[in-house]
Amino acid sequence: MHKRIIRLLPRHRLYSSSSNDPLAHLTPHLKTLRTTLLPLLTSGNPTLSELTKYYFLHPSKHIRPVIVLLFSQATNGLGRSWPRKLLESKDLDLDRPLTRPDVLNDWNPAMQGSTREFEDVFLVKPSTAHTYPPSPRSHSPPSSTPSPSSPTLSDHHHEHLLPTQLRLAQIVEMLHTASLLHDDVIDASPLRRGAPSAPSKFGSKLSVLGGNFILGRASTALARLGDAEVTQLIASVISNLVEGEILQMRDVKDKDVGVEGKTKNAWTVYLQKTYLKTASLMAKGARSAVVLGGCEEGEVWKDIAYAYGRNLGIAFQLIDDILDYESTSTPGSADLTLGKPGGADLQLGLATGPALYAWEEFPEMGELIGRKFEGPGDVEMARSLVHRSSGVHRTKLLAKEFAEKAKEVLDELPESVAKNGLVALTEKVVGRRS
Ligand code: FPP
Ligand code: MG
Repeated sequence: MHKRIIRLLPRHRLYSSSSNDPLAHLTPHLKTLRTTLLPLLTSGNPTLSELTKYYFLHPSKHIRPVIVLLFSQATNGLGRSWPRKLLESKDLDLDRPLTRPDVLNDWNPAMQGSTREFEDVFLVKPSTAHTYPPSPRSHSPPSSTPSPSSPTLSDHHHEHLLPTQLRLAQIVEMLHTASLLHDDVIDASPLRRGAPSAPSKFGSKLSVLGGNFILGRASTALARLGDAEVTQLIASVISNLVEGEILQMRDVKDKDVGVEGKTKNAWTVYLQKTYLKTASLMAKGARSAVVLGGCEEGEVWKDIAYAYGRNLGIAFQLIDDILDYESTSTPGSADLTLGKPGGADLQLGLATGPALYAWEEFPEMGELIGRKFEGPGDVEMARSLVHRSSGVHRTKLLAKEFAEKAKEVLDELPESVAKNGLVALTEKVVGRRS
């Protein structure tokens, strides 16, 4: 059954290898990203290794890494510190630990020579087999300032990717995957990416622990980027994801205001939650990519990246919330296009954009939302009200508005293949069917 679903599913891609596709040039980078990501997740425990790699083995849209890669390419060479970043990248080894490997890895038979058996007594005297000459970058930035002949902005740099930026793309995908492992436990979802969800296959306890393990590995990789601002940005996304999930659980209970006041308040919470659980990772991921490329405070590039990711992320989630209503599968059962159950939001008690708009047209929706669609027939009634209202249509218009704002902020970027890709992404996000 699960193999059949995978075969029937379209590849979940927002790009194709066709030469007309403005995102096609990313294909080799995304391939490298995937192949070099799996070793970051290896553990001494085979079940944990299998679980943490599980979602990475199924088709994914990779939208978060795509944003990171495109913003890197679109802004590299523009920032004041680009020459220094380029110079530093020359002797950078992102896989070389900042602390001795046999301490960092604890115990991992897959990492021969850099892990210690517990049968050994740990000696203070460093063994020659485990020395790790730290790279110059790991303790202090290179003392040499870029000479006049150092690289400056050129077309070549414009499409250039630094190893730190590729690693950042992997880190954001790791964070996203960790959050999905937790989300599928919280939502009790049976399916993800066209296959049984991690909790269905491995159980809830392992899925929660696996998500935490991925966060740990992502944090190690984040530290190795050696950029305090990026560490701060990405760490704050982890808190945002949790805040978004908690906000989503909040009841809509403002009994003292009329329907208009209640829906307004519900919209405020809904959009805030949408930023926290979806757009924050895209916005701060894009901003981090630009920081790694040497853009500084006072230059406009970081804010462009953040504004793009924030607006696109909200548009992306609004479309996700529409697709849940447009699913033709029986609520709760597998939708072959989405690769997960359709109609899940109402079952989970969630009032998203389409339901909130429907509330403005049908006041009786307020009661259903208030009791989280838990009464007999509530889910069916709410679904019918949404379909009789203009809720889906208006949510789509709102998504288009956010996507259009994402596109507008790109105006100040110089022309490039990557900029075209970022523009194309705003259109693909609004037009997507899965
Ligand atoms: C999918 O939403 C879920 C998210 C975008 C974020 C989930 C965040 C957490 C569970 C907090 C924990 C975070 C970390 C980093 C461990 P959805 O349920 O609307 O979409 P779906 O239909 O794809 O499941
Ligand atoms: Mg979910």
